[in-house]
Amino acid sequence: MTCFSFLFSRKVNSSGQQNFDVDDEVSGIHDVKLYTFKELTIATEDFSDANKIGEGGFGSVYKGRLKDGKFAAIKVLSAESRQGVKEFLTEIEVISKIEHENLVKLYGCCVQGNHRILVYNYLEKNSLAQTLLGGGFSGIQFSWPTRSKICVGVARGLAFLHEEVRPYIVHRDIKASNILLDKDLTPKISDFGLAKLIPPDMTHVSTRVAGTIGYLAPEYAIRGRLTRKADIYSFGVLLVEIVSGRCNTNTRLPIDEHYLLERTWELYERRELVGLVDTELNGDFDVEEACRFLKIGLLCTQDTPKLRPSMSTVVKMLAGDIEVFDRKITKPGLISDFMDLKVRGPAVAKTKPETRNVSSYNVSSSSDNFDTPPLSSDASTAATTTPTTTTTSV
Ligand SMILES: Nc1ncnc2c1ncn2[C@@H]1O[C@H](COP(=O)(O)OP(=O)(O)OP(=O)(O)O)[C@@H](O)[C@H]1O
Ligand SMILES: [Mg+2]
Repeated sequence: MTCFSFLFSRKVNSSGQQNFDVDDEVSGIHDVKLYTFKELTIATEDFSDANKIGEGGFGSVYKGRLKDGKFAAIKVLSAESRQGVKEFLTEIEVISKIEHENLVKLYGCCVQGNHRILVYNYLEKNSLAQTLLGGGFSGIQFSWPTRSKICVGVARGLAFLHEEVRPYIVHRDIKASNILLDKDLTPKISDFGLAKLIPPDMTHVSTRVAGTIGYLAPEYAIRGRLTRKADIYSFGVLLVEIVSGRCNTNTRLPIDEHYLLERTWELYERRELVGLVDTELNGDFDVEEACRFLKIGLLCTQDTPKLRPSMSTVVKMLAGDIEVFDRKITKPGLISDFMDLKVRGPAVAKTKPETRNVSSYNVSSSSDNFDTPPLSSDASTAATTTPTTTTTSV
């Protein structure tokens, strides 16, 4: 691990931009590998378009080859994402210490001048959004055992963030584009801890709502109530996406199939859940397991956060170690029900004049890795979907 004092025992000049005294900034932080801007420029061939592999809410991502020969995904955070060196490094130190088979490894970062760049382990098989749900040819066979392994892996990674990391981490952005696959198709959750790197007044949700909205727990989208249960909701949506091979929202399908979760609930009520399993599997799947996974998806997306199981319980349910009782499943919380909000095409459709768009809600600040206080007066806008049966806590 590169030592700070070795790399930055002098003031750093970042390609003509403002200098800062790194010794002062990083005193007390010892455990983060620091890359120079020059090193990353070389690794990415001058951040060339040919090496650009994606663009997200935080900035652009490049594939690069580091000095030691390892490939890396190099994420250049956009201007809005910048914060002071010390705050940034404090967060990075936390993230870079977290290691788990189902989490993307952060190698280190670059904090020279105004640059804020994250360097991650490169995952060659891309994200679930681009492969399983991408609609194009990815060359990957998502057999049932592979899907099952992906679901369990993601659940384990999230359970680790929620229940083993201290203090625990709420991911905030569990979705198909944040699930990356390595060469063996082992899933790795990316971007955990990043929400804390953006200023509180510029939430990730508000900037990228169109791609994220289908994953948002109603209480988070509407009231900014961020708890681990919001991640569990998003996980539930993802689970149904993996089993069905469909995106949570698809306006090209017949109208009653636009919203995957709504469709799942309908089929569940008709006892036809099996009809949701991806036809690409040509019937080659474990029916009991696939339907169990879909029911777990429904449990995770229950309208009342308390009714959603913890991630360690989800792991056991997926493995078949804990039974999934039908009597505990009620209608999931559907954001479209809450706000008369329908996503049409790439942008979020206008809401009724008297209702507010999700992006205008004050989603709680990024410093919050803990349950936020109970409802504010905004609760009045959240006309809840009524459970159809009596429930008990899972
Ligand atoms: N570690 C990685 N290895 C390989 N590819 C990666 C890695 N990290 C990101 N990518 C690629 O870069 C793309 C953009 O990632 P990024 O996280 O910036 O955006 P996103 O996941 O689409 O949205 P969001 O900003 O909301 O997370 C990803 O979809 C993926 O294709
Ligand atoms: Mg991402």
